[in-house]
Amino acid sequence: MRRDILEVMANKFDFTLRGGLKMPALGLGTYAPKEGDDDVFNAVHTAVKAGYRNLDCAAIYRNERAVGSAIKKLIVEGTIQREDLFITSKLWNTCHRPDLVRASLKKSLDDLGVKYLDLYLIHWPMAYKEGEEFMPLDENGKVIFSDVDYVDTWKALEDCVDEGLVRNIGCSNFSSVQIQRILDVARIRPQANQVECHLHLQQDKLFDFCKKNNIVLIAYSPLGAPGTFGDPKTKSEEYVSCLQEPKVVELAKAKNKTPAQILLRFIIQRGLSAVPKSVKPERVVENFQIFDFELSEEEMELLRALNKDFRLNIETVAVDHKYYTFNDAF
Ligand SMILES: NC(=O)c1ccc[n+]([C@@H]2O[C@H](COP(=O)([O-])OP(=O)(O)OC[C@H]3O[C@@H](n4cnc5c(N)ncnc54)[C@H](OP(=O)(O)O)[C@@H]3O)[C@@H](O)[C@H]2O)c1
Repeated sequence: MRRDILEVMANKFDFTLRGGLKMPALGLGTYAPKEGDDDVFNAVHTAVKAGYRNLDCAAIYRNERAVGSAIKKLIVEGTIQREDLFITSKLWNTCHRPDLVRASLKKSLDDLGVKYLDLYLIHWPMAYKEGEEFMPLDENGKVIFSDVDYVDTWKALEDCVDEGLVRNIGCSNFSSVQIQRILDVARIRPQANQVECHLHLQQDKLFDFCKKNNIVLIAYSPLGAPGTFGDPKTKSEEYVSCLQEPKVVELAKAKNKTPAQILLRFIIQRGLSAVPKSVKPERVVENFQIFDFELSEEEMELLRALNKDFRLNIETVAVDHKYYTFNDAF
């Protein structure tokens, strides 16, 4: 389907955030730990040419400069203007102390080569020891924590909105209990919570909570993150990934789509946002081709029934943290 028609169909799923800002439901994930800057540069360039207008970035991905170079090229070429893009970045755990927040945001802005972000998220509720190291370790190789309360971090994020450095702020990997603590004091309410969400971890309860509070739930690892987390459970012979689920494969064949397209369409049609990552140009394009078909109510039900509440990313290094997010039911 022609890119401009696909874009119009994609726009129907846009979310409207604070100040009327539109957030496209499908974005490109840029966490590419095994790939280099050139791959990320090419992925972003291909994605925007293919119709993506939402880029999901983070300081910890250590590739915001590569993303920024691609954005610059796309603007110079005349493909887009800055305003056409919805750019998200995330505050890393070592920068939760309120006096560090603005400088972290500024670093991401400089690396991305933009004057403002559309969305800035607290990456995790758990703070780590402040300093140069993203993963500060003690002599036993254990991550050193900091006891900064994310509610205090939130107030510093609000100041960045006041200053015009970011249009919207939100959370990532926050439980409903943790979001509620922010809602209780927020001058500027969280607009989004980005969490792991895919066929096997459908997050119904958290999704309901977010909907009630006008918070967009952004699904990370929406394809079930093949190869990303290396969870031992996924290495066993019996493990069936989201992309290999027989019913998904069957549905894909019947609809002349790929399993990845079925998984992404399922999430978007449920009313969430999703940020699949690929550095392979053909897959980047494939993952955007999900607006030219629909899943029927029966097909949605069939996919809903495949939920297993199976979490891949449990952030084992922080299980002892006082704000460890997965202690809450949802
Ligand atoms: N907030 C957080 O804490 C957090 C945590 C994790 C991720 N994220 C965000 O979410 C994004 C996506 O998550 P993710 O990378 O963990 O998982 P994902 O998007 O579910 O899966 C990415 C994997 O799927 C492969 N893939 C992509 N398209 C495919 C297709 N059409 N068919 C088959 N395989 C395909 C990719 O390989 P190739 O690249 O080789 O195609 C890559 O190995 C990240 O990039 C990041 O932006 C956020």
